[in-house]
Amino acid sequence: MDNVASLDRSPLDRLNRPLRDLRISVMDRCNFRCPYCMPRERFHEHYAFMKTAERLSFEEILRLTRLFVPMGVRKLRITGGEPLLRVNLPDLIADLNAIPGVEDIAITTNGVLLAKHAYELKAAGLGRVTVSLDSLDQDTFARMNGGFGRVSEVLDGIQHAQDAGLGPIKINAVIQRGTNEDGVLPLVEHFRGTGVTVRFIEYMDVGNRNDWREQLVVPSRDLQARIHERWPLRAVNADYAGEVARRYAFDDGQGEVGFISSVTQPFCGACSRGRLSSDGSFYTCLFAQTGTDLRSPLRAGVGDEELIRIIRNTWTQRTDRYSEQRVLLRAKTGTGPKVEMNYIGG
Ligand code: GTP
Ligand code: 5AD
Ligand code: SF4
Ligand code: SF4
Repeated sequence: MDNVASLDRSPLDRLNRPLRDLRISVMDRCNFRCPYCMPRERFHEHYAFMKTAERLSFEEILRLTRLFVPMGVRKLRITGGEPLLRVNLPDLIADLNAIPGVEDIAITTNGVLLAKHAYELKAAGLGRVTVSLDSLDQDTFARMNGGFGRVSEVLDGIQHAQDAGLGPIKINAVIQRGTNEDGVLPLVEHFRGTGVTVRFIEYMDVGNRNDWREQLVVPSRDLQARIHERWPLRAVNADYAGEVARRYAFDDGQGEVGFISSVTQPFCGACSRGRLSSDGSFYTCLFAQTGTDLRSPLRAGVGDEELIRIIRNTWTQRTDRYSEQRVLLRAKTGTGPKVEMNYIGG
């Protein structure tokens, strides 16, 4: 019979993958409108974002996280939309940081508000930040994010994060054929030797609104070859099982670059990531069609054992490996409605 002690052990999914990494979206809104994530035409000024009461409160996020950690979660990543739009975020970070067993807390942000918040986030116990930056060229940057903010603000945010000690800092750059491909070498050149690692992400078919086409994907191996030609690279071993990025070090010792190649080299085999949306649904894949509602039971006042049971059941039934099956799934069924990226973070 199940009791709390046995429920505490790390569940494995149907493909024997543990749950190690919880990505918590704290805000579905964003101050950018990247066409590949929240295209402006669809996320317009009348778009119905969540109401404040629909989003999990900090207390609710903390309660759930305290249940996830004994199940094996070690890494927390705070995402959005744009997480820095969530009021009093440092308070949440401080409380998450105090949960025994949490080893790593990182945030993924577009960086525009980072200069303002870097020091208070560090003081609250945030470990590190990852900043999305698709181009250093202001016009291309604006095209990639719907026309908001300036490159200089993001660079300033990165500098503040570095000064505050929120490292190692990583840059995520989504590359789209014909839009920002030519900005790849300048990005590498800018950050080489600064301790900041740039990671190039293949454009993915997340959500339903970005009109993804395979022709717009630039395979990572092409980018790697281009970079290698200019600054010779050698492969570096993964930091941990199931690491999302493949990493390469510059031969001349000036740091590393990474490639996140969900389309051409999927990494579902060791995927130990769960995602909590800002309104409290638990998703077991970035490309999921449905999540498990944790907010209703939470707000109905159920006990911890019942919440643990729901989370465990969801995880132990998990069979997701969308990126490995992309071609098949798209051909067979179309993809069906998938969860949107701003809803569960990247
Ligand atoms: P660290 O290695 O701990 O720094 O984290 P990470 O590699 O998980 O980094 P991050 O959260 O910044 O992820 C980078 C990007 O990779 C995300 O924004 C997504 O675009 C993509 N990504 C992350 N996790 C997954 C995943 O599970 N599946 C797919 N297909 N893409 C992912
Ligand atoms: N394909 C690849 N990466 C994406 N991101 C958002 N949408 C997509 C997409 N369609 C990335 C952003 C950011 C993170 C939150 O997710 O670049 O780094
Ligand atoms: Fe906002 Fe990030 Fe989505 Fe761009 S990719 S719209 S910055 S959440
Ligand atoms: Fe994990 Fe789904 Fe991404 Fe595969 S596609 S790595 S299962 S989140």
